Amino acid sequence: MNIEFHCHILPEFDDGSENIEMSLEMLRRERAQGIDRVILTSHFYRQREEPDHFLRRRQKAYDALCAAIAEDGGEFPELKLGAEVAMTKELLYEDLKQLCIRGTRTLLLELPFAPMGSWFRDVEAIIHQNTVKVVLAHVERFRACLDKKSFRKVMELPVTKQINTTSLYDDGFFKKRELLKMIENDEVHILGSDAHNLTDRPVNWDKAFKVLTDKGMKDKIRIMMRNAEKIT
Ligand SMILES: [Fe+2]
Repeated sequence: MNIEFHCHILPEFDDGSENIEMSLEMLRRERAQGIDRVILTSHFYRQREEPDHFLRRRQKAYDALCAAIAEDGGEFPELKLGAEVAMTKELLYEDLKQLCIRGTRTLLLELPFAPMGSWFRDVEAIIHQNTVKVVLAHVERFRACLDKKSFRKVMELPVTKQINTTSLYDDGFFKKRELLKMIENDEVHILGSDAHNLTDRPVNWDKAFKVLTDKGMKDKIRIMMRNAEKIT
């Protein structure tokens, strides 16, 4: 089973899909590119919103999307609610289980786009609390704001690490060669498109699958999809 682990497809919710039509088209593309299950990981920022408010708002957007899918009558991937939870100190005192992918104890956590600081100890504390299983969102992107030693410390955290499909063909965030080596060494574990729209941040599994297939790493696609399936 192929899993989309990270995307912003819920309509009118965050900086992702702008409306229901866009959400439906994004989901059609997910399916056309071989995705069976989509985890809807809308942004959650604790400093801007109470969890209760976020969860109510998310349910509303999800219900609207499900109604549109039913009306469309076409074939769509299975959907599951989740969140991309931005790391802040306040998370140490929250019930993180409610922010996990529904029906799991898996929390997609986004580190701050900032140099190494006290946030790292807070991330370690959340991991040690062990109330949820942390998956670090698009871990490769933090190579751009962390020095080599700090990035290594992040990579050594004993958690699952998700990477963005875009990074496999776009050198903007990370040198492709280094990323392929990390996949080869099983240092990163799950793929997500982090799709936000139909244009500059689209569903792009085709391109990513081609890169990995051309590099003879089809088995790694299977392994990463299986990793995602196990925890969703
Ligand atoms: Fe994201």
